[in-house]
Amino acid sequence: MNACKRPEEESRPVIDLALFGALGDLSLRKLYPALYHLDREELLHDDTRVLGLARQDTSVDAFRQRVAETLQTYVKASELDRDAVNRFTARLDYLQLDFATPEGYRAIAEWRTAVRHDTGGCPLMVYLAVPASLYGDICRNLKTGGCLDDLSRVVVEKPIGYDFESSCEINDAIGEVFPESRIYRIDHYLGKETVQNLIALRFANPLFGTQWNQNHISHVEITVAERVGIEGRWGYFDRAGQLRDMVQNHLLQLVCLIAMDPPANLDADAIRDEKVKILKALQPFSDSRLNRDVVRGQYIAGTIKGKSVPGYLEEDGANRDSDTETFVAMKTSVANWRWAGVPFYLRTGKRMPEKLSQIVIHFRQQPHYIFDPDQRNLAANKLIIRLQPDEGIALEVLTKDSGLDRGMRLRRGPLHLDFSSAFPQERIPDAYERLLLEVMKGRQYLFVRRDEVEHAWHWCDSLIAAWRDMGEPPRRYPAGSWGPVASIAMITQDGRSWYEDY
Ligand code: BG6
Repeated sequence: MNACKRPEEESRPVIDLALFGALGDLSLRKLYPALYHLDREELLHDDTRVLGLARQDTSVDAFRQRVAETLQTYVKASELDRDAVNRFTARLDYLQLDFATPEGYRAIAEWRTAVRHDTGGCPLMVYLAVPASLYGDICRNLKTGGCLDDLSRVVVEKPIGYDFESSCEINDAIGEVFPESRIYRIDHYLGKETVQNLIALRFANPLFGTQWNQNHISHVEITVAERVGIEGRWGYFDRAGQLRDMVQNHLLQLVCLIAMDPPANLDADAIRDEKVKILKALQPFSDSRLNRDVVRGQYIAGTIKGKSVPGYLEEDGANRDSDTETFVAMKTSVANWRWAGVPFYLRTGKRMPEKLSQIVIHFRQQPHYIFDPDQRNLAANKLIIRLQPDEGIALEVLTKDSGLDRGMRLRRGPLHLDFSSAFPQERIPDAYERLLLEVMKGRQYLFVRRDEVEHAWHWCDSLIAAWRDMGEPPRRYPAGSWGPVASIAMITQDGRSWYEDY
C-alpha cells in the first residue's frame, strides 16, 4: 500500500464485513451481486474482506463456489467478467456459527486479527441478513465476544418488528450495543436511483421549489405494483400483509421525501428530522371514513401476461382461511401548512398486471380557462416520477395540437428525462450497491432513524386496529388486475382517476 493515499482511497475505506445469514436468500440474490458490482467498479478497497457467517457446515472453497454460482444467476451475463468474479470471491471467508450461542463469536475477532491489513485497523461492518428476532442476541454476542470497537457499525433489514411495541424491543436490543449513529436501518427504496433523484429534483430546481405546495398541487398519487405473488415467503407474509410489508416502510418513505420541507443541508439528521415531521403530521383514519378511504384486497386466481396464476389462498403452503391483505389502497393526508387539503392516494399490491413503481404529482388547473370546454379536464400539468422499470422523470405539459384545421386544440405531451436513454453509458446501480457503499463510508442519510420507524408503526398500528374492529375480510381481486374495484371507486368519488399512461 502506498504511504501516500490517492484521494479516491478516502472514498474506498477498508472494511471488514461480517455477513450474518451468508447463505440466505437476501445475501445470495442481492448482497453478493451488489458487492461484486462495487468491486468491479473499483469501489471496494483492495484490503476489504468479507466473512460469511451461517449455521451450515461448509468449507471456504465451497462457499466461494456457491457465491460464484449465485453471481452467474443474478448478474447480467454482459456484466460478469471472470477476473472480477475471481477477485471478488478471493475476498470471501466463511465461518460456521450458531448465532444464538456466545461461545463461537471469539472466532470473528480472531478472523479480524488474522486478516492483516497493511493499513492497520479498520471498521467492522456487521450486516444482519437474518430475522429480526435474532438481532438482539447477535449484537450482545458480538459485544461479549470482543468483536466490536468504537468504529463498528451494524446494518439491519426491515421488518423492524411487527408493530410499534415489538419494534421498540428490537431497537432497544440493538441500541444496548450500538449507538444510533452506528445503526444503519435499510429501506432499500431509499437506495433507488430515482428516489435519490427526488431530493435533487425538489431541492435543486427552483421551478419546483416554488410550486411544491397546496397552492399549486391538487393531489399526489403513489403506485407500487408488483407482478409477483408471495414467492415462497408464506411464513413471513401471511403474518405481515401488504400494509406492514410495503406501506409501513417503502411507501411512507416516499411520502416523506415528497412532502418534507427542504432540509438545512444534506446531513443525515437534517433530512431525517424533516421526514419525521411528515410522519407525525400523517392523519389517522376516522372510523366513519375508513370504508371509503381505505381498501384492503386479496388476490384470487387470474391471468398475468397470458399465464394463469393461483389465488393467494391456493398458493403452496397457504393458510386457506387467511384474511391477510395483498393489496392496499388509501387516501391519506399530511396535516400541515404546505399540504392542507391535498390528498395523497397510495396503492400497492401483489400480482398486479405490471411491476411498476411510480409517483404522480398532479398540479392544479389554471384559475381561468380559455380553451375548448371539451378539453377542460386535460388542462393540468403532471410530474411523473418513475422509479421502476424504465427509471425516469416526465413533466406532462399542454401544447397546441399542430395542423391548420385544429384551431387552438390542446395536446398533452411529456417533457421526458428517461435515464437509460439520456445517459446510455451509465448502468443504473441496484439500490443495495449504493446502500452498502454508504455504510462503508459511514454516511447515514439514506438510512432510517429509530424515531422514523416508530412513528411509521404508530400510524400503521392505528389503521390495523381500526381494521380489526371493523372485522371485514379483504375484497377479492383477480390476479392480473389493478386491485379491487373499490380502489378505483375510492379515487373516482373525488372526481379523479389513477394515472394510466403506463
Ligand atoms: C420488500 C418486500 O421489502 O420489497 C417484498 O418485503 C417486495 O414483498 C419488495 O416484493 C419489492 O421491492 P422492489 O425493489 O422489487 O420494488
